[in-house]
Amino acid sequence: NKSVLMTSVGSYLPEKVVSNKELSTYVDTSDEWIRRRTGITQRHVVGENEKTSDLARKASQEALEHAGLTGADIDLIIVATSTPDDTFPSNATKLQYQIGATTAIAFDIQAVCAGFIYALDVADAMLQSGRGKRALVVGAESFSKILDWKDRSTCVLFGDGAGAVVLEIESDVGDFGIKSSILHADGNYRDILYVDGGPSSTNDVGHVRMEGKEVFRHAVEKLSAVMDEVLEAANMTAADVDWLVPHQANIRIIDSMQRKMKLPQDRVVRTVDRHANTSAASIPLALADAVRDGRIKNGHVLALEAIGGGLVWGAALVKY
Ligand code: ACO
Repeated sequence: NKSVLMTSVGSYLPEKVVSNKELSTYVDTSDEWIRRRTGITQRHVVGENEKTSDLARKASQEALEHAGLTGADIDLIIVATSTPDDTFPSNATKLQYQIGATTAIAFDIQAVCAGFIYALDVADAMLQSGRGKRALVVGAESFSKILDWKDRSTCVLFGDGAGAVVLEIESDVGDFGIKSSILHADGNYRDILYVDGGPSSTNDVGHVRMEGKEVFRHAVEKLSAVMDEVLEAANMTAADVDWLVPHQANIRIIDSMQRKMKLPQDRVVRTVDRHANTSAASIPLALADAVRDGRIKNGHVLALEAIGGGLVWGAALVKY
């Protein structure tokens, strides 16, 4: 009877911070509008020579250090990102080299904002099927590189950063570990959130395009449904959840999930105010925040959920 435990977390945010006020000097927006509609007050943005791989490496090094491990102990590396350094090779292979995980399998997953949930599910399945003992699952993004800084409806929403977790498969650990995870995709909605560029369609990487209201509507509906599914799969109810650690896209989406699950306000990890939407990095960044300040403790049940462009969405329950 083996379980996949989440044994450590780490995160990294670039030093440069851009406030709403500063943004209002580039586009016709205001601190008041951004706060009221999204809950965001600031975002971190990579420096000129800083890459997604730098963020991923720093977050991973922190997670490894907290676990008392080195890269050589890792058998599997999955990096969830939609903003890799290069078209190929993957950021995961770069990370494998940087941390000296010489025998690890390494690949990227591209499921935009649901990337971390997708990567967690795949890593869980691979460890359960005997592909190794320890995995490093990373969400790392530099969304600032694919924003149209003249489009106020998108450029105010995103930020850069990375988070990482160490997963370890163990025998006889009771009910600890990943209890259930559920993934979904529906390509019918590929046109409501996408990037208008890429290797086989244009000569550049393109920019984020989004029908915000439509995405918002799907987010509330689909995240609510997948949370019910993942709870049922684990034979649990929302009352068993100690912490909701949601993808951080918009405070109103997060609050609607908190009300649906009837969780107290202070049982939800919120970082969207300081980090904005960091896509695949938002959940591990939020996890690292709440572990670091002592809110999330060993034995707590965590409910994770996210939705992103595709559409793709999913949820996971983890006893930390
Ligand atoms: N500043 C000021 N005004 C703005 C801004 C801005 N930054 N952006 C839009 N507006 C204006 C619009 O032009 C519109 O003006 P109009 O009424 O004169 O046409 C008005 O504000 C209202 O715009 P809406 O788009 O209707 O505003 P809404 O309340 O829907 O909020 C928002 C927009 C914040 C984008 C919201 O729809 C949202 O959060 N959607 C979900 C986005 C999301 O979660 N995306 C991520 C999920 S997947 C991923 O992370 C990749």
